[in-house]
Amino acid sequence: MDALHYLLVLVSLLLILYQLTVPKRIERKNVLPRPPSLPIIGHFLFIKMLLKLPLHEVLNKLCNKYGPLFLLHLGKRRTLVLSARSDIEECFSKNDIIFSNRPLLPSRKVVEYNFTTLGAPYGNHWRNLRRFFAVEVLSPKRLQLSSTIRTEEIRFMIKYLFQTSFQGFVKVELNSFLYMLDFNIIMKMVAGTRCFEENEIDTDRGKDKLDDLKQSFSPVEPLALGDYFPFLRWLTCYGAEKKILNKFKKRDAFLQAMLDARQNLDKTPSVSGGGSEIDQTIIDVMLKLKEFEPEFYNDDVMKGNMMAMLMAGTHTTVITMQAAISRLISHPEILKKARDEIDNVVGQSRLLNDEDLPNLTYLHCIINETLRLDVSVLPPRESSEDCTIGGYHIPRGTQLMVNVLTLHRDPELWTEPNSFMPERFLQNEKGGGFKFVPFGIGRRICPGSTLAIRLMTLSLGTLIQCFEWEEAETEDKSQGVAKHKLNKRKKCVKMIFRPREALTQVLAQL
Ligand code: HEM
Ligand SMILES: *[C@@H]1O[C@H](CO)[C@@H](O)[C@H](O)[C@H]1NC(C)=O
Ligand SMILES: *[C@@H]1O[C@H](CO)[C@@H](O)[C@H](O)[C@H]1NC(C)=O
Ligand SMILES: *[C@@H]1O[C@H](CO)[C@@H](O)[C@H](O)[C@H]1NC(C)=O
Repeated sequence: MDALHYLLVLVSLLLILYQLTVPKRIERKNVLPRPPSLPIIGHFLFIKMLLKLPLHEVLNKLCNKYGPLFLLHLGKRRTLVLSARSDIEECFSKNDIIFSNRPLLPSRKVVEYNFTTLGAPYGNHWRNLRRFFAVEVLSPKRLQLSSTIRTEEIRFMIKYLFQTSFQGFVKVELNSFLYMLDFNIIMKMVAGTRCFEENEIDTDRGKDKLDDLKQSFSPVEPLALGDYFPFLRWLTCYGAEKKILNKFKKRDAFLQAMLDARQNLDKTPSVSGGGSEIDQTIIDVMLKLKEFEPEFYNDDVMKGNMMAMLMAGTHTTVITMQAAISRLISHPEILKKARDEIDNVVGQSRLLNDEDLPNLTYLHCIINETLRLDVSVLPPRESSEDCTIGGYHIPRGTQLMVNVLTLHRDPELWTEPNSFMPERFLQNEKGGGFKFVPFGIGRRICPGSTLAIRLMTLSLGTLIQCFEWEEAETEDKSQGVAKHKLNKRKKCVKMIFRPREALTQVLAQL
């Protein structure tokens, strides 16, 4: 047995002890289903989570066994898992405000700038942050203004693909390619400069830089036991919390440097004076607003907003685009249909741009269908009051997980739920709301969904328009791009993009 196993055994023992010493709650007639013989199964689950079995697989299994509504004890954190549409609807129509909080995990206090980022609890501060995003970053007008950035950056990347395609076939590591594209776009929106220049795209230096960025802005943090077992809070100086804190320090320094660079620039009148709206970065907008609301736009809030963009805006879109490409490669007929649509709407004498997007319905359906199949669990919420769901009493402080994977594959709601059929969105497979919720639900729904859809359709559409796709060999043959097991696979899929005959003229002008 290695150290990890010893740790797991220790944790399990502590967990059992803990469960036995917690006073029994008053018996109720109406007890939520939960896995039986709690100490054993409870720690079993916990170990599984620790061993990084994808969470949605655990939930799906439990759902088959205990029905769509059940409770888990993750240490001290009582966690309600919802999977059925009726329960989700009840939860978010009448109890939306109660559940509009994220769990305030102790290990995240510093990382979330004392909970002043968008992860803040429901309340005035959080509403102000949301308003900032809605009006100043993601409003239709702002999205219109930032469309130049997205177009420029995707063209920058396909120019690279086109030019290297002459030097023999270049196998592109898909995941890095998409990350570089996304970091370039989001960073340009935030700070006005791209992250990766041409000479960094396929080089070791670029890859190192990317690894650094990916790590700094990864939304996945190590599991801090102290969050679940308060009596383990003394672990703060060791293990997971220490890693979380070190990561935070690095990220914070990076964000502060970005902010300072722009702040100092602003002091030179020649630059700040006439800056037209279109050149305004998100940092510029915040600095401008700071003149009127200096207490709100302090450094922590500004860094928190930059972090939200870089964290919430990159991984999600990269994973989705990669999943979509993977699905399209295993469904050539769907890829062809998408290409035909683009050729019809855009033609072959110019490149696709933002204004074409509303006319590319099928492409949008492909994204939707990918989101339906590949989004698994919504980020957790936590209740701020007692309430009832499905007839059960839910005490305040209960963590909530919405198991989207099960909802999105419910055979009552979807025909052939496990098949990849973008057409289903054309036919408007109806059945009311709360059925397709890849961006979450209610007041706390993802504020970036329109940006995400635009970014993904433009990028994917341009790649479809300009190139024939081919999967090159992967490091492990059995783990091809077509296998869909995105969560389990090492992401080293390589692709060959061959310029389409008909588009070479246009590509050559880039
Ligand atoms: C494919 C792309 C994306 C997916 C699938 C996605 C999905 C989600 C989901 C499920 C949530 C939680 C909502 C809830 O709790 O009900 C969320 C929150 C959030 N997303 Fe996205 N998102 C995507 C892209 C983006 C982008 C591009 C941005 C960038 C601006 C963004 C910014 C945020 C923020 C700031 C939150 C936290 C909101 C809050 O707690 O108030 N997301 N996203
Ligand atoms: C964190 O926020 C709380 C409540 O808003 C406040 O009382 C406390 O002083 C803050 N702590 C730090 C270190 O900023
Ligand atoms: C989109 O389609 C409509 C109707 O077919 C057409 O009038 C419009 O010009 C198209 N827009 C673009 C940008 O192609
Ligand atoms: C994709 O899903 C969204 C709901 O999130 C819906 O509003 C939109 O109409 C769908 N797109 C298409 C093309 O069906």
